Order: sequence, then structure tokens, then C-alpha cells
Amino acid sequence: MDIRALGYLRLETTRPAEWRTYALDLLGMTEAPGSTEDTLRLRMDDRVHRITVHTGTADRLLAAGWEVADAAALDRAARELEAAGHPVKAADAGELDERRVRGLIHVSDPCGNPLEIYWGQAQDHTPLGTPYGNRFVTGDLGLGHVVLPVPDIEAARDFYEHLLGFQLRDSMRLPPQAVPTATAQRDFHWMHFLSPNRRHHSLGLYPGALPPGIVHFMVELETLDDVGHGLDRMNAAGIPIASSLGRHTNDRMVSFYAQAPGGFQVEYGWDGLLVDPAAWVAKEITADSFWGHRWNG
Ligand code: FE2
Repeated sequence: MDIRALGYLRLETTRPAEWRTYALDLLGMTEAPGSTEDTLRLRMDDRVHRITVHTGTADRLLAAGWEVADAAALDRAARELEAAGHPVKAADAGELDERRVRGLIHVSDPCGNPLEIYWGQAQDHTPLGTPYGNRFVTGDLGLGHVVLPVPDIEAARDFYEHLLGFQLRDSMRLPPQAVPTATAQRDFHWMHFLSPNRRHHSLGLYPGALPPGIVHFMVELETLDDVGHGLDRMNAAGIPIASSLGRHTNDRMVSFYAQAPGGFQVEYGWDGLLVDPAAWVAKEITADSFWGHRWNG
């Protein structure tokens, strides 16, 4: 399957006002045309939207949107998923219109995480006026990365690596206390990092369950100062910092993690590693950071 990037995220929130402030005033995203009282559309680059936040009755991930090149690639993806026993459902006209894409299928991963595979998203050609002059690193690397809870870690890895065609970049052993919801008793649990493009990882697989259906998502900024200013804004707003500034060992990202409205986190980073997929060899990492990333709680 030829998936190119993590294209968008759709979230449901019970706290729309908090999300509006968080995304616009703290993360430095821009409200996209087409936002309504119930749907906040967020622009980060030349796509009409990258993140949509829908007001609802739960705080959860509605879908991770994965982009393919064209209609033929989407047809192939649908056939391969069905052949492997994963039922797909084509989007109706209303769903295509709402997401501003030309074609889309719904499918779930083996742990029930909702995915949308799509092609042909509309662009916005007007200048992106971010509130602090901050710029996000996106383009063909996609919007950033997302970490999904997958209690059946090896079934999930097999699905994303061998069916969706993501490259396994590296894996890390988590101690049992880091996975309190694990169903099997083990000395350690693997966590995996994968991507369909040069971004070190577009997807992290966390081997436990979490109610919001998302552990965190990461957005990457062009400069270290963008990240530092973001940290100042979070602190000034009294947002709990889940993890202090640090540099990850695997994607070399300098980042911090802030609590987001709804029980998950946003990683705000800079200087993420780009890899050459043809030359990459999968590795095990034995620490998640070179320095920093002190977790609170
Ligand atoms: Fe991350």
C-alpha cells in the first residue's frame, strides 16, 4: 500500500472553548474558513485544515487521516485491506465535502482505532497568518506524528508495517509500570515507531489502552525559538507541562509535552530527524531521550 503521510486528525471534544484557546492562542494554529460553532477547523500550512475539533459528548480521537497519491492508490488500498480481512467503507458525499477531499475510505486497525485513507485534499492559497509568526514543518512529511494505543501491539505492528507499508524505524522496551493496562503479564512491552515517509516517525504504537484513543500528537516547528515561545505561552496559561523540554534519542526531536483538553497530550517540537528510507535499518532504542523530558506523574 502506498500511503504517503499523516494528513489530518479529527478530534471530538466536550470542551470546545478550551480547545479554541489551546489551539489558536497556545499552539499558534490558525482558524480555517468553514469553522462553525460546533466544528473548529485548524490550519497549519497550505491545506484547508489539518486538525478539526468537533464538539460532542466525549474527548477522543475520531480518526487519523492517512493520505495516498490519487484515486488509483485509494482503490488499491481498499482492495488490499478487504483482501486481508479488514472491511472498508467508502465515504458518502457529505463526508467528502466536510473533509474537503476527493475520495476516502474508513477502516479500523486491529485494535479498533479509526483510520481514514483519502486523496485529493483541497489547498488554501491565501497567506497563512500564524499568530506568533511561528511556522510548522509539514509538506510531504505530513502534519507531524500521532501515538495510538494498541493493546495488541504485534497485531497492530503487523497491520501498519506489512499491510499499510510503513517502515519500522525503531522499537523500545517499556517496563510493566509504563503499561498499567497491558492484558498480558510480561517483563517488558514493546513500543514501536513507524513512518511511510522521511519523517522518523509519523506513528507511534503504545502497547496499552487509553480512553481518548490517542496518547499524543506532535507538531513540529521551524525554529527552537518557536518551541520556547510555545512553552512560555503554556506556562503563562497554567497548562500542565506533562514532560519538560528534552531531546529524544530516536527522532532527535527537541520538544516538550503539554496536557491538551481531554486527557491526552500535545508534543511541541523542533529539529526532528529525516531519514533515507532506502538506507534505514530498524533499531532498538534503550532510552527515550538524551537529556530532559522529565515526566510529571
Ligand atoms: Fe512523540
